[in-house]
Amino acid sequence: MILITGASGQIGVDLADELVARHGPDTVLVTDLRMPEKLRPNRVYDVLDVTYMESVEKIIQQHSIHTIYHLAGILSATGERYPELAWNVNVNGVRNVLEAARRFECRVFWPSSIAVFGPTTPKVSTPQSTVTEPGTMYGVTKVTGELLCKFHTTHHDLDVRSVRFPGIISHAAPPGGGTTDWAVDMFFQAVRHRHYTCFVTENTRLPMMYMPDAVKSVLDLMEADGDRITIRTSYNLTAFSFTAGELAAAIQTHIPDFSVDYQPDFRQDIADSWPESIDDHHARDEWDWQPEYDLDAMVQDMLHHVRIRIEKEAAEAAIDSDLND
Ligand code: SER
Repeated sequence: MILITGASGQIGVDLADELVARHGPDTVLVTDLRMPEKLRPNRVYDVLDVTYMESVEKIIQQHSIHTIYHLAGILSATGERYPELAWNVNVNGVRNVLEAARRFECRVFWPSSIAVFGPTTPKVSTPQSTVTEPGTMYGVTKVTGELLCKFHTTHHDLDVRSVRFPGIISHAAPPGGGTTDWAVDMFFQAVRHRHYTCFVTENTRLPMMYMPDAVKSVLDLMEADGDRITIRTSYNLTAFSFTAGELAAAIQTHIPDFSVDYQPDFRQDIADSWPESIDDHHARDEWDWQPEYDLDAMVQDMLHHVRIRIEKEAAEAAIDSDLND
């Protein structure tokens, strides 16, 4: 069976859907700190706190896990507020998963981030191998995790694969506590209120990717021939880069009366310390990475799905209020 940790998070929800679609029902064990409110059919759920080694080992053993998508983690903005929590979940979590994977001979996918880079890293077309001196605790945990992954591959022959995700844009599950969350929030506020107050400046440019491509990248990498995988820390990866102002303009081509004002907060400093664009040629050359969505295609598809979601939520709320009357 396949184990997903942190499966209620932004990536986990979409990745679980795709894994079930590919491998069939009852092949995916979906875990998080708490059970989700709405359970999906054809899914096996359990509760897992990855900071407890015994719990990680027990679940792997109980369900005969062979592959782990270890997604449980604290994102950058939350990590700045709660650095000890970020260290505990992100570093002890990945350490426990890698140790257990070694013992039970599992393959592992683990997401790293552009947050491994910092103010001293070249900002444009950031290379694979460069300075990794992050300014955030989140970045510190991701650099540590990358090195642990490499250590387990070289010392224990574990098959761990990883990518440095840029900001990910999605509609199924919201991101929580990230610096790139503005790129998701903007869509929901555009559809709901025709206005968004953005927490980074108009000219803040960051590398990004649409969720279908993020899921595809994970599965492409996991399915790639092991001989082709030369990076055992974490692969640079990107689809496109845009500024907050450019995303607003792209949304305005569909919603002309949409407006944005900019009120940067503490997340601006984090965004400013990250690259504007990423050189991901290793992923493209070694496992044929190729994103399918450009900015315009992503914006069109996001707006379509965000509208459906908001209409569905409104209909559900109306039913609930009728029932309560
Ligand atoms: N999207 C993440 C964040 O903003 C970066 O990995 O924290």
